[in-house]
Amino acid sequence: MPLSEFDIDACLAALNAGVQGHWPTIHMVAMAECNSTNSQLMLLAEDNAATGTIVVSDRQTAGRGRRNRPWISAPHDSLTFSVLWRFPADSPAPVALSLAVGLALQRALATSGALVSVKWPNDILCQGRKLAGVLIETQPGDIKSAVIGIGINLRLPANLPKDVAANAIALDEAMPLVPGRESLLATLLQQLRTTLTQYGNEGFASLREEWQGRHAHENCEVKISGGSENLHGTCFGVTDNGELLLKTADGVRRIISGDVSLRTA
Ligand code: BTN
Repeated sequence: MPLSEFDIDACLAALNAGVQGHWPTIHMVAMAECNSTNSQLMLLAEDNAATGTIVVSDRQTAGRGRRNRPWISAPHDSLTFSVLWRFPADSPAPVALSLAVGLALQRALATSGALVSVKWPNDILCQGRKLAGVLIETQPGDIKSAVIGIGINLRLPANLPKDVAANAIALDEAMPLVPGRESLLATLLQQLRTTLTQYGNEGFASLREEWQGRHAHENCEVKISGGSENLHGTCFGVTDNGELLLKTADGVRRIISGDVSLRTA
């Protein structure tokens, strides 16, 4: 197996040069190729890897998305990585973690100059199209240890299926100069650390207003599909538990799973 082209030392130097404090651990694994960084990190987590452990890969052969979908990404044209985050055993269940992660990505990309918004529960949109996705998995029997997998398009792969390409966007369309993977990852990790620490200490209630302010579909008519039932209505925020609030003809519904899409006339 060839060595990864990802420069761990450059990334860690950028990460620890941040003014916001040090990353909890410097255990970063860079792979030239793997099935999925989430799968690799789940194995390390089972082996007691410390909070803050990171796996980044140039190429994934079986990248996974939410709801059992594949995640397609081209080597060098995307940043694919996973972070292990362990919350204290006596902390509340991290039920709104996916929204907190989405907000962390939004914050980081905004400071890098990209105009992005959050889509419930945790996609990142730019110009209404998907720029990044998040897949959070927990260790069996331990919901406080989360493997947070993130895929960000730097440039769109040429072989993307047409229907996916129509709804996708990459950083090269969102900002004038796409940062290198090392400095982008450092920026994202700094913001993940800040946001997840706040989330762990104060809960999602402390992030909720900001999340709603960045919500791509706030006050929009949407369809919810793929959950327990198909619904349509108007989004009006989220709860402290991360449920999406939907005003429907039959009253207010709290959505806990499903795909949100804009309702066209
Ligand atoms: C989604 O939007 O459906 C979630 C996509 C998550 C993709 C990332 S890429 C790094 C990590 N490894 C995976 O197999 N999936 C996540």
